Amino acid sequence: MINALKGMKDIEGKQAFYYTKIIKICEEVAQNYGFSFINTPHLELSKLFKRSVGESSDIVGKEMYEFIDKGGNEVCLRPEGTASAVRSYIEHKMDKSGSVKRWFYHGSMFRYERPQKGRLREFHQFGVESFGTASVYEDASLILMLIEIFRRLKIKFSLVINSLGCPLCLPSYKKDLVEFLERQEGFCEDCLRRKILNPIRILDCKNTHCQNLLQNAPLLGQKLCPSCQRDFTLLQTCLRENGVEFTLDDRLVRGLDYYSKSAFEFISDEIGAKAAIAGGGRYDRLIEYLGGKSGYGVGFALGIERLIVILEQKEEAQEREGIYLCALDETYVSNLLQISTKLRKNRKVFLSYEAKKLAKHLSNADSINAEIFLCMGENEAKNESLFYKNLNTKEEKQILISTLEQYL
Ligand code: HAM
Repeated sequence: MINALKGMKDIEGKQAFYYTKIIKICEEVAQNYGFSFINTPHLELSKLFKRSVGESSDIVGKEMYEFIDKGGNEVCLRPEGTASAVRSYIEHKMDKSGSVKRWFYHGSMFRYERPQKGRLREFHQFGVESFGTASVYEDASLILMLIEIFRRLKIKFSLVINSLGCPLCLPSYKKDLVEFLERQEGFCEDCLRRKILNPIRILDCKNTHCQNLLQNAPLLGQKLCPSCQRDFTLLQTCLRENGVEFTLDDRLVRGLDYYSKSAFEFISDEIGAKAAIAGGGRYDRLIEYLGGKSGYGVGFALGIERLIVILEQKEEAQEREGIYLCALDETYVSNLLQISTKLRKNRKVFLSYEAKKLAKHLSNADSINAEIFLCMGENEAKNESLFYKNLNTKEEKQILISTLEQYL
């Protein structure tokens, strides 16, 4: 038997139903906010993520699926979508004029993590990236967009926000933090690595011993420059004006190194331990880091599998849809094929090719959640009619094929 790899899963059945529902809602909301679709390759040069997500991150440090391709290039399966969108923005020279671009994307991301509920090695994100807009109203809009997505999906969340500063205020904060860290002993190996590569990532360590050591660490919130302070205050005002509840968390640094200014996470406690269902923020410096002309970028991504876990737990009754078309005798099937071809121009039709007893067909129709049941038996074939049953209302009748449309 050949099974799927650990941490990689087929999405089918009910999960597939939720998957497509999530994508549909996300796409609709993103389009309402002026975003358009972009698709970037699954495979990119490894250095794209090393330079952007950063060497201090777990993603680059431990989790990338990397290999040398036949041309000798060091490549990897994308662990996230932001770096690829920035690469594309620069590659198509949009950075030169600072073009405003608003993209959304969805697809597989790959991280070699320890699999558990809601944490996979191949998982799917829906994300958006907005380029060319410095205004903090854009940051607020992205948060409101996520809230609209979760409202439509009926998913509860708590929102946490922070400001990660900018090149004006971050370096002096980092200096203070490193001085503080030098005075402490006993950090885990990951933190020792982060201390050299990007000390603020230590704030985010999940190890309780490290968290204890950090209790009196200096906090960036007290060191923000006037511009970061102003934007962060305005972001909070916008959220309050729109009735959004949130908490401030000085320790929210996100697991990727490219952020500056706004950072946010949406947390759910419906996946076992508290888990992030979406995260994002501003990454103005990233375009320059990746060789482009300095500009502005802000975005988010949500984890589709994590939302599926929540929706599955809610077990909402799936709405019935579509038509189940069947026959009691196989000789009628070619006639039904013609009927279904017409109906399929604008309706979902499941056509059964096999003759079965009425009760068996009805139970099949029920199991695929069809709304309308149509069956041809001997009498119906003679009268050019069909037996009709609405599986929601249970109404039953004989209808002429020529008048079918008015009953669907
Ligand atoms: P991230 O926080 O690494 O951000 O991932 C975003 C979301 O993807 C998480 O909140 C989580 O729901 C989901 N996720 C992450 N890892 C896994 C996993 N192993 N299994 C299942 N779901 C997972 C980013 O990726 C950034 N690119 C977001 C962004 C866009 N920032 C700016 N623009």
